[in-house]
Amino acid sequence: MAGKTFRERWEIIRPIAEGGQAYIYQVKDLKTQDDRTYVLKRLKKEKRKERFEREIEAIKSIDSPYVEKIIDFNTIEGDDFYYVMPYCADKTLENILKDLQGDFIRNFRIFEKICEGIKSAHTNKIPIIHRDLKPSNILISENEVPKIIDFGLCFLEDKERITFSQEQVGSRFYIAPECEEGRSDEVGPPTDIYSLGKILYAMISGGKIFPRERQNEDEYNLKNIMPDIRIKYFTQLINECVKEKPKERVQAIDSLLSIIKENIRLLQTNFFLPDYGNEFCRFCGKGKLIKFGTLKGSIFEPASRPGLTEDIVGYQMILWGCSECGVAFLFKDNIYKKFKD
Ligand SMILES: Nc1ncnc2c1ncn2[C@@H]1O[C@H](COP(=O)(O)OP(=O)(O)O)[C@@H](O)[C@H]1O
Ligand SMILES: [Mg+2]
Repeated sequence: MAGKTFRERWEIIRPIAEGGQAYIYQVKDLKTQDDRTYVLKRLKKEKRKERFEREIEAIKSIDSPYVEKIIDFNTIEGDDFYYVMPYCADKTLENILKDLQGDFIRNFRIFEKICEGIKSAHTNKIPIIHRDLKPSNILISENEVPKIIDFGLCFLEDKERITFSQEQVGSRFYIAPECEEGRSDEVGPPTDIYSLGKILYAMISGGKIFPRERQNEDEYNLKNIMPDIRIKYFTQLINECVKEKPKERVQAIDSLLSIIKENIRLLQTNFFLPDYGNEFCRFCGKGKLIKFGTLKGSIFEPASRPGLTEDIVGYQMILWGCSECGVAFLFKDNIYKKFKD
């Protein structure tokens, strides 16, 4: 195949991958002769043309720095069907999972951008649900900027619904139950939110995958894998994303994003709740931190107050102090609608 050209413009340098639907090649542009390289995705079977056109239509309509762009394509009969995008990176998220393990802020920073990319799809003029989000469909470019690819199974709100049973799918670990079971009328934004929850789990755990809804069992519980008080910022969020029923999950990508942003802020300021009884005082270094109490109901506020959003419904104040030097801290913690207990 090396040396073959498409439309006298794209010359194949090497094959990159071969999936069920398409061949992927690294190509160069004979028109500009620049040093940059590109990726050409060529459809294998003509009967898949309609889906391929849909994939192209979807990617072209999304404008996001976190979704790789299409710069050329052909869907005219009698020639190869293909599309071309810039060559983005050698790495996918899958390749860096091991390295990401336990890196709290770094994980959230990458994850936030993936969610921003999905937000662009969900809030597109014609909303697009990716349906096949998984680490191998997320490229990791320079400075760890993620780029979502492979909208081959995507669902466009204005088109008839194609069920997953009609499709060839790869790894099912990340696919939402309604897709796996062909309940295509239930597909919506929470479908991608389910996959995002599983992706976040894979990121923080260093590539571990849990079978459907078993993330809280001993073997898969992140609290056991990573005994760190801050893990709660991940476990609560993951639990709210991977519910079996779409209606019980976080419903909108914006809600997910606001929680992620808040978690990043808390992790950055280091003002996470301390591991009472186990952590040494940050001032004297000798005493252990003791929780004195939580003030909840008294300062619970209605959602109309500034700083409160639809998701953050109130505050609680937590007082803790050192058993040795007596220094005390008052910590303001947000109460989320989803996590209100
Ligand atoms: N723009 C790109 N830059 C670099 N590698 C890419 C690019 N697009 C795809 N790839 C590589 O090709 C693989 C398959 O691409 P994808 O679009 O996911 O096709 P498939 O439908 O076969 O899964 C990806 O996992 C990635 O390794
Ligand atoms: Mg893929």
